[in-house]
Amino acid sequence: MPVPNIMIKSTGAYVPEKVLTNADLEKIVDTTDEWITTRTGIRTRRIARDDEATSDLAYEASKVALKNAGLSPEEIELIIVATITPDMFFPSTACIVQDKLGAKNATAMDVNAACSGYIYALVVGSIFLQTGDFKNALIIGAEKLTAITDWNDRNTCVLFGDGAGAAVITPSDGRGKLLAYDLGSDGSFGDMLYIPGGGSRHPATQETVEQGLHYIKMNGNPLFKIAVNKMRETFERSLKKAGLKPDDISLIITHQANLRIIEALRSFLKVPKEKVFVNIEKYGNTSSASIGIALHEACDNNMIKRGDIVGLAAFGGGLTWGSAIIEF
Ligand code: ACO
Repeated sequence: MPVPNIMIKSTGAYVPEKVLTNADLEKIVDTTDEWITTRTGIRTRRIARDDEATSDLAYEASKVALKNAGLSPEEIELIIVATITPDMFFPSTACIVQDKLGAKNATAMDVNAACSGYIYALVVGSIFLQTGDFKNALIIGAEKLTAITDWNDRNTCVLFGDGAGAAVITPSDGRGKLLAYDLGSDGSFGDMLYIPGGGSRHPATQETVEQGLHYIKMNGNPLFKIAVNKMRETFERSLKKAGLKPDDISLIITHQANLRIIEALRSFLKVPKEKVFVNIEKYGNTSSASIGIALHEACDNNMIKRGDIVGLAAFGGGLTWGSAIIEF
């Protein structure tokens, strides 16, 4: 299948105001700033207010992306929200965002690919655009991970944060282009990172809640090794499809799960530090949102110019992985 002829027209992001530091976490669980910083690279993360849900974060990021694109909500024909923390089972968070924005001409749906969600949303949205039936699409990665975090589990609660990243994608006008993408999944490792309760397998009961089955469970150490390999493999496949070498990429933006995973990819690709975007120290792991937030920050800080080639790579629960090479 040909690569859809689309471009990223604009980006947006939003993170909640409240900052939770490693020192704050030291008061909640048996951990230290030193452990969290050296093992993950995370120093702070943002925490949404009780009255803020994923759609609220997505809405704020979308407003920025729409403003930067110079588009009104009515001009958006497709909204895709990548999330593992929807406001509720249904309606989809995308429908809730559509209503908040007043994007009444948009078809709206969610995708769930955990931390690979932003790249999945980008590719799914691009393929919809390729049909010619849709023009302006709004893709969003948004999470309120702190709503599904077990604050008694030091293995996971130090990792996650809340936020949203958005982009408007349109058919290419010749100035930018999606050059290649690669997606993959392996459901046989699903139970390495999951929420066992609350769905149709184990509907919510007093018992499931008492057992904390509605919280993220993660087998972090083996996942770490798979993450390093799968991110490298998917990125290599995208590079090959684009006919490019690591040196041709101006900026690499990976999912921000662990600084050591990002460093492992960087050292495999043999690219200098300044070519790899990192903001994990500020926001922790925001799953579907992380690449969207990072892409917006990189654009906002003039780290990406028209004509630059940007590489995206992610890995997450499912298991899922994905990568994309984009000319800006
Ligand atoms: N503070 C202090 N000690 C801790 C903490 C903590 N917060 N958490 C774990 N430890 C301890 C463990 O209990 C263990 O102690 P033990 O040796 O006495 O048993 C020790 O530290 C080492 O634990 P490991 O799990 O082996 O630590 P590791 O170096 O693997 O780091 C981490 C853990 C950060 C979770 C890492 O494995 C990781 O990043 N994994 C990948 C995560 C990932 O990529 N997920 C996919 C994306 S997320 C998504 O899709 C939602």
